[in-house]
Amino acid sequence: MNAPPAQVWLNTLLTLLQDSQFAVLRLWHALGLTGDSHGQPAWPWARRIAGETLLIDLGLARQVAWSVAAIGFALTCVAVAIVWRHRRLTWLGVAALALILAPWPAPALLFTPAAPTSFHTSPTRFSAEAIARGGRLYAQHCSACHGDDGRGEGPLAASLPHWPPTFVGPLLGRRADGELFAHIVDGMHDTAGWPTMPAFGQQLGDDGAWAVLDYTKALAAGTAASTNGNWPIPLRLADVSVRCGQGAPRPLADWRGNQRVRVVAFDGEASSLPLEDPRFLTLLVTRDGSHLSDVPQFRADCVADSPHAWAAFAQLAGIDTSRLAGTEFLADRQGWLRARALPSRSPWDGAGLLCTAGQAGSGQGVNPSAADGLTALLLRMDAEPVRFVQGGFIH
Ligand code: HEC
Repeated sequence: MNAPPAQVWLNTLLTLLQDSQFAVLRLWHALGLTGDSHGQPAWPWARRIAGETLLIDLGLARQVAWSVAAIGFALTCVAVAIVWRHRRLTWLGVAALALILAPWPAPALLFTPAAPTSFHTSPTRFSAEAIARGGRLYAQHCSACHGDDGRGEGPLAASLPHWPPTFVGPLLGRRADGELFAHIVDGMHDTAGWPTMPAFGQQLGDDGAWAVLDYTKALAAGTAASTNGNWPIPLRLADVSVRCGQGAPRPLADWRGNQRVRVVAFDGEASSLPLEDPRFLTLLVTRDGSHLSDVPQFRADCVADSPHAWAAFAQLAGIDTSRLAGTEFLADRQGWLRARALPSRSPWDGAGLLCTAGQAGSGQGVNPSAADGLTALLLRMDAEPVRFVQGGFIH
């Protein structure tokens, strides 16, 4: 039998470590031992577990996994000693032995500097409104250095002592959102303490900083999709207000964790609509967010009720708003945007999967000849879920 692939146990370990740190933070906050920072519980310590190091150092990750197992085993032994009251010393001795023999990792490798906002989550839900607002702020405050396309080649870049990084790579996905937020709000320094990036907390405020972070992700996605044909980081399906039939509007994000969603950019030409498909819920995005009376009800009667949705999806697709009509997107059950089909190509094939687990995993377990393009794509989305890494998510 083969051992489970590294990513399965590693993902479980990283999720466990992240959840445990989050639980401790909540407990500390509930006990009044830590206050708030920018409206959320503040991480009170100067360090946190460096999940991003474990991701690339499998030896260290194994040490951590064995140490966590040893702690679990020791706690079980202590519980048995307390409850059973029989051979107590033996049980306590076994617990101590497990802790002594555990391959404890070096603290210098396991921990990394943290900010009070390290465990903050964005309140914007990656909404089309936040992306639109962030776009305006980015043009005003950021593009001079980071460039209109996010590659870090703005007009000021060459004059800086430290070249701005490109967003069109894994950077924004590998860092915790809360730490990116802190870098935008507080600015950044080099190791000698010299400022490398200015602080924007005063100008942007918290909401503005979260919004501009959403836009940088959308910008990175659009630039990479148009040039390399992929999304460099996993993206949430942009949240919009949705109106289905005569129902009251509700946020699209409510569907996360439930069902696949297909988004179709629709410009009123009913014959260009794809057929309804029970494997996902279809959402129409129109230019001005209007509800269309002439769209047959049995097809998609869910329409994005947001004037910013069209521009947000054009940004994510990496195409101009004037050419978006007919473009389709697919999001998986967890609410991650996974695939895009341009109007010019035959609807769905493997090339549409822009958020993928990489070459090694491509098509694993899916027999392409047995399935049409869309079925193969859906099977692959399920077989290669977006995974969590501290600080962010990878695919
Ligand atoms: C004066 C030039 C300049 C401006 C203006 C600027 N940045 Fe930066 N930015 C930099 C430099 C340089 C770095 C790399 C700093 C480092 O690694 O020490 C950077 C890094 C970053 C990073 C990467 C952070 C990380 O964790 O590595 C993000 C995100 C970022 N900037 C976002 C923004 C946003 C958003 C704005 C506008 C609100 C902005 N920047 C404005 C120069 C700038």
